[in-house]
Amino acid sequence: MAPLVDLALPLLRLLPPEAAHRMTLRALAAGLVPKPALADAPNLATRLWRRSFRNPVGLAAGFDKDAEVPDVMLGFGFGFVEVGTITPVPQLGNPKPRVFRLAEDRAIINRLGFNSAGLEAAVWRLSARRAAGREAPGIVGANIGKNRDTHDDIGDYVEGVRCLAPLADYLTVNISSPNTPGLRDLQRKSTLTRLAGQLMEERARVAPRNPPPLLFKIAPDLGGEERADIAEAALSSGIEGLVISNTTVTRPASLRSRFAHEPGGLSGEPLFALSTALISDMYRLTGGRIPIVGVGGVASGADAYKKIRAGASLVQLYSALVYQGPALVQKITQELAALLARDGFTAVSAAIGADAHLPSTTPHGL
Ligand SMILES: Cc1cc2nc3c(=O)[nH]c(=O)nc-3n(C[C@H](O)[C@H](O)[C@H](O)COP(=O)(O)O)c2cc1C
Repeated sequence: MAPLVDLALPLLRLLPPEAAHRMTLRALAAGLVPKPALADAPNLATRLWRRSFRNPVGLAAGFDKDAEVPDVMLGFGFGFVEVGTITPVPQLGNPKPRVFRLAEDRAIINRLGFNSAGLEAAVWRLSARRAAGREAPGIVGANIGKNRDTHDDIGDYVEGVRCLAPLADYLTVNISSPNTPGLRDLQRKSTLTRLAGQLMEERARVAPRNPPPLLFKIAPDLGGEERADIAEAALSSGIEGLVISNTTVTRPASLRSRFAHEPGGLSGEPLFALSTALISDMYRLTGGRIPIVGVGGVASGADAYKKIRAGASLVQLYSALVYQGPALVQKITQELAALLARDGFTAVSAAIGADAHLPSTTPHGL
């Protein structure tokens, strides 16, 4: 690990989580954190949605909400970075304190409620990055949301697509944050189908030549019927991916931290099993036909590998970065490459769904 980062991590942990995060972003934006030299093993390269990923390990939404440091984060070795959630107009989010470190549990609870500098700021930054040719090689996706007080939920997402489809390598539609009232209702089948239709229409209008794939990010707390409904809606509306999953509102009995009962979404290690089980379910329910980005509790190459074998084409992480620092990224990619090689997989794509038991003929003949 780079010495400066070594020194910074324990110091940052003395600060309240949000202040530490703000300082980290400032240091990253100022270029204070040295970048490691990087080379990925060839078996990590993967192609999806007509895009090339140098490796399948990405930074999850919420770390770089306002697209301040995507290229610095790519420099740490992530194969892709998801900025956002970005809301149409700036909003402050919920009152502080609203982020809690559950250190004993290697977990975080947040109820930020989409603090966002808004679409205009993100468009400005992403356009400046393009114009300056500053992009590091790597994929930058944008995660879009709605304002808390909007009168037009779907209109807010349409606005996100209008502004960001020309600037992002992919778009994630966040309909699963537990911290915006009513948001998760958008996961209902009829609403989801209508939302997907309108977003695709808008995307075709603003980015006809190289349309970014549309992904929907879902909650780990969905029941069986809701899961089946989402799979059906996803298949019928032709969306290109599912991000599985957001944080959970459940609280596993194993939690030890004094913050365990703070309201909000729980992420990190205790989310791993729940979110991986949802990946397996959705992979099965969609017959493996919709690429899945697996996220929730990834803290090692073995964790990433389990999500891929459960059905994920790519993985993401956030919470483990808070506890282990950016050297974690390369540790994970190296471990993952070794695990794939151990099991005879020459490419990530060959391992996707290796633990899934799809029926040999699905209703759609795949
Ligand atoms: C502090 C914090 C803020 C987050 N903000 C967002 C967000 O704005 N949009 C989103 O889709 N997910 C957000 N997430 C959820 C993460 O993207 C991810 O789905 C979740 O944390 C599970 O991954 P992890 O266990 O690796 O952290 C946030 C998570 C944390 C910890």
